[in-house]
Order: sequence, then structure tokens, then C-alpha cells
Amino acid sequence: MVDSVSASSELIFNGHWVAFSKSNTLPKEPWPVQWVETYDECARHPYHLLLDDDNLLLIVHGQCVYSAKECYQTVLQDQHGFIRTAVKRKNKYPTELIDGTAGWGREALTLALAGIKIFAIERAELPVIFLKYALEFIFPQTFIEVHHQPLDEYLQKQSHQIIEYIYCDPLFFESKRSLSKKSMQLLYHEDRRLFGGQQDDSLLKALKGHHIQSLLIKQPKNAPRLFNNNCVIIERYQKTCRYDLYCLNGAQLY
Ligand SMILES: C[S@@+](CC[C@H](N)C(=O)[O-])C[C@H]1O[C@@H](n2cnc3c(N)ncnc32)[C@H](O)[C@@H]1O
Repeated sequence: MVDSVSASSELIFNGHWVAFSKSNTLPKEPWPVQWVETYDECARHPYHLLLDDDNLLLIVHGQCVYSAKECYQTVLQDQHGFIRTAVKRKNKYPTELIDGTAGWGREALTLALAGIKIFAIERAELPVIFLKYALEFIFPQTFIEVHHQPLDEYLQKQSHQIIEYIYCDPLFFESKRSLSKKSMQLLYHEDRRLFGGQQDDSLLKALKGHHIQSLLIKQPKNAPRLFNNNCVIIERYQKTCRYDLYCLNGAQLY
């Protein structure tokens, strides 16, 4: 499976991102990327980002392979709307939530548009840049605090308090279907480039070390439950995946 994805060589990058802004205005938020002065300088890097008048383009060997407009049109079309159903506890939205694997932030944005305050945690640089672009230019009215760091590091800093609600949508390495989408292929390649691309258990370890009241996890439809804890578990099914909500009331996962 992995080989068939890496065969699309246009999506394999090495090295870090550099970016150039055509309009001469840099984003307000500091992005985790090196800004260069001229487009020539930028174009010397085979993989770079171009901040255009009304779009952010991801360029690989001179070709645009993805853009912010393409990425976030699914949010504008409400294609991630099921997350609003999945997140509900006793038919109510939480007031705030940590999205521990934010990715492009499309589900986070869908929840933020419903009025939930979101803390979006993402360890890979590329989706963080896209999400920051979306927050500044496409969805400026939403509240999302973005943290570019691994979830375990973020949770360490919160270790003194009970976490009310956390959502995780890990990459499904074994799922052919999820890797058929360009957005997921890009995240998969970034994960492999930066972190080795193996299903690692640091995410689960991070979750297990904390007092969490509600934990929502997106899983492949037939995946076994991640925790068999003494708690209320609500399963909600979609065509290709399952959202498991563990209501823990502040007990620790084990
Ligand atoms: C399937 S994607 C999430 C997609 C997201 N729900 C969306 O709507 O765009 C999973 C993301 O989790 C990130 N990730 C994996 N392990 C992580 C960790 N330990 N800490 C933070 N982010 C992590 C990956 O880099 C990847 O971008």
C-alpha cells in the first residue's frame, strides 16, 4: 500500500518549506516557515509555498499540487458536517475542545463555525501553515488557537488540570481509501518525511497519561476499540469510519 502512494513522485518532498508573498504583505501571524525576499530565491527550492493575492499555493517542481482554496472548499461546502453530530454529549456541544491531531484543520474549522472554542494541535509544519492561512484569510471570524507541537508536549503543559474534551483523528496508515485523497497523501508524506510515517503509540500514551472527561476518536470502521475502560462509549458510524466517544468523567485511561 505504502509503495503505491510513494509512486506518485510529485508528492515526495525533502527539505523544509520556504515561502514568498506576491502581494508584499506577510501574514500577521508568524508562520513556521522561512519567508524569502524574491520569487527567484523561492523558486530555487523545488518545494515551496506562494502566497498569492487570494490563495496559498503549494508548488512542487514548478507545478501547483495543492492550494488553500482546494483544501478548504470542503469546509465551505460543509462536507465535514458529521463531526458536529459526533462531538455531541447528551445532545450538546462542548464549549471548548482540543483537536489533538488537527491536520489541515477542516474538522476543527467546522466545529469552530458551530461556536466551539478550539485548541488545534498539529506536529507537522505544512498543515499548520495552511491552517494559519485559513484562519487569517478565509475564516477570520472563528476562534482557533493553533499550536505547532506534538500532542504529548502540549498535554504535558496542561498536566495540572482535567481536560474537558479532546478529539483525535490519527492517520490511518493501513486504510487504502483514506490515502486515495490528495489531502491525506500530503499529510501522510509529511508524516513520513518528518517522523518516519509509522503508526506510533505516542498519541495513545499521551492520552493515557491525563485526566480527560471526554475523548472522541475517529477510527476505521472495523477497528477494535482503543480502550476498554469502565466508561460510557458511544459509537457513531459513517460510511468509511467510526467516531468513538469515551465519557470518562476525569478518570485516567488505562
Ligand atoms: C488524519 S489527519 C487529521 C485531519 C483533520 N481531522 C482535518 O480535518 O484536516 C492526522 C494528523 O495528525 C497529526 N499527528 C499525528 N500524530 C500527532 C501527534 N502525536 N501530535 C500532533 N499531531 C499529530 C498528523 O501530522 C496529521 O496531520
